[in-house]
Amino acid sequence: MNTALKERSELDEALAGAESRFAAANPKSRARHERAAAVLPAGHSRQTLYFAPFPLAIATGKGCRITDIDAHEYLNLVGDYAAGLFGQQCEPLQRAALEAMQAGISLSGPNTREVEFAEYISKRIPSMEQLRFCNSGSEACLFATLVARHATRRPKVLVFNGCYHGGFMIYGAVDPALSVPFALVKADYNDVEGTRAILRANANDIAAVLVEPVMGSGGAIPGTPEFLNMLREETRKLGVVLIFDEVMTSRLGPGGVQGLRGIRPDMTTLGKFWGGGFAFGAFGGSRELMRHLDVRSGGTLSQAGTFNNNVITMSAGLVGARDVYSPDACVRLNALGDQLREQLNELGRALKVGFQATGIGGVMNTQWSSGPITEPSAVLPVSATVRRLFQLEMIERGYYVAQRGMINLSLPMQESDLAGFVGAVRDFLMRYAASLRA
Ligand SMILES: Cc1ncc(COP(=O)(O)O)c(C=O)c1O
Repeated sequence: MNTALKERSELDEALAGAESRFAAANPKSRARHERAAAVLPAGHSRQTLYFAPFPLAIATGKGCRITDIDAHEYLNLVGDYAAGLFGQQCEPLQRAALEAMQAGISLSGPNTREVEFAEYISKRIPSMEQLRFCNSGSEACLFATLVARHATRRPKVLVFNGCYHGGFMIYGAVDPALSVPFALVKADYNDVEGTRAILRANANDIAAVLVEPVMGSGGAIPGTPEFLNMLREETRKLGVVLIFDEVMTSRLGPGGVQGLRGIRPDMTTLGKFWGGGFAFGAFGGSRELMRHLDVRSGGTLSQAGTFNNNVITMSAGLVGARDVYSPDACVRLNALGDQLREQLNELGRALKVGFQATGIGGVMNTQWSSGPITEPSAVLPVSATVRRLFQLEMIERGYYVAQRGMINLSLPMQESDLAGFVGAVRDFLMRYAASLRA
């Protein structure tokens, strides 16, 4: 057997061992999974929470730690895929939600909390001159796109390979049947000239460019300033609505990534942490675009949703963003993320293993290559073996990480928590260095 093959089969063997240790250590999670699979397809309610051989069922959480139903405790580095910014328990949010409940739910009318919250969001993200609430980031992206299509009377939407805008708009080489039937035009992320050419060629048909200013689920890949600036300039010239999907990235700076980059999109979508732990979505933009939702001035778009202004989300969301994730707290957490990413990158360099972490601030993704990564196709087609082995071995060491390698920090985390994680990664890289190099 040649050396590369031998090393690879060592990784396969290591994975088989890690899987059997995982199964032996988690009998209750396994039983829950088998029971769940009878009523929930694949045993779950959310695709990203599933991993093989079966996901851990989580019983409780406190600070930045969670405990599974087999009573193992973990540092929660999944961070609810960026929504879990406040950690597992946050007293001001609990108080806000409880007070709202005590004042009465399902009030069947507009409330003052939604006004206060909208005013605060608009102040923090000035491009959202007006906004509307909904119940998820997916809905927010859908509504924003519908507003843009209606306002421009054009059908198409330009999206980027590898970006994610919610469960209604999944796309890849083949658009799946469960997606909304929008005419999508696809370009490559960070491809300045290619995208410019596609935009110009389709100028009369494209309603909107929908883009994550940092690609999140696709691998925590930052949009370059040249790319984002080109999008701003070209869309302005062509009368195309530029929508920044900041569902995930708005936590990266006090005014989102648009604030960090000094770019004002026409529309923005929000989700995740803004709900203070509860289901949340919001979309907004210039008054000129949002007037289409205003029946008083001839707007003909009707946006509905039973829970859009529910008092629990409106109350917890405002307290979370204004009092807990203040601009100062935001800067601190993202500096901690930059420090962790640098430490992980240093491990890859020092050990001469193709390993790095991409992203900015407190949202990052581990990658199994050492070259620059500016779009998803630059991520080497790493065998699933390495990702799965890494995940199971981190879990074994007390660090709950996502199989895709995504890591999201939360406010209760301290440098000491992350130092332990860096140590665990160092152990892993040293143990498998020869196989990883091969
Ligand atoms: C960039 C982006 N847009 C939209 C969504 C969809 O949000 P939700 O899961 O709240 O529907 C997500 C979720 O991960 C996201 O990361």
